[in-house]
Amino acid sequence: MLNSSDIKEVLLSEEEIKEIVKRLGEQITKDYEGKNLLVVSILKGSIMIMADLLREIKLDCKIDFMAVSSYGSGTRTSGSVKIIKDLSIDLSGYDILLVEDILDSGVTLSNLKELLMLRKPASLKICAFLDKPDRRKADIVADYTGASIPDEFVVGYGLDYDEKYRNLPYVGILSPSVYGEN
Ligand code: IMP
Ligand code: MG
Repeated sequence: MLNSSDIKEVLLSEEEIKEIVKRLGEQITKDYEGKNLLVVSILKGSIMIMADLLREIKLDCKIDFMAVSSYGSGTRTSGSVKIIKDLSIDLSGYDILLVEDILDSGVTLSNLKELLMLRKPASLKICAFLDKPDRRKADIVADYTGASIPDEFVVGYGLDYDEKYRNLPYVGILSPSVYGEN
């Protein structure tokens, strides 16, 4: 059973998430009219926002999936990403929309963006469901942001702690007791 005391506070309820996703979908639908849209989900954290957002994008599009991990400490602003699972579609000619769960230091996404630009897409934009602007180390901004949140460790709606909590339908602040602080 899920221990509800693991969550200190609900940050975004299911209803709030629905509103956010609807707004993002409307904006993206407007912006990508007439384009060659390929929506790319960065696994695993973006599965929920990906599935919900796609239903709010009222355009023809294709989808693909990619899994990456950052090399090194994660505090560096340069370096590269390790590809765990690559895309199956050749990016040339596509207008890519990268869908990510959360933009934190930004190291992963800025490195990934650099790597994908080498594949010559027609364009590449980023949609981050959550953004922690206070934590930014790399020079990167999301083109679409669901919600800006304070510098707290959050889980749910795809986001994990030690691979757990991804299935929560809301976003909650993880109780520090879970990771050994009180
Ligand atoms: P960064 O932007 O390169 O620092 O890394 C972003 C990644 O770190 C995200 O895709 C998440 O997997 C993870 N992450 C960052 N902040 C959180 C959080 O508050 N909860 C869960 N995962 C997080
Ligand atoms: Mg992630």
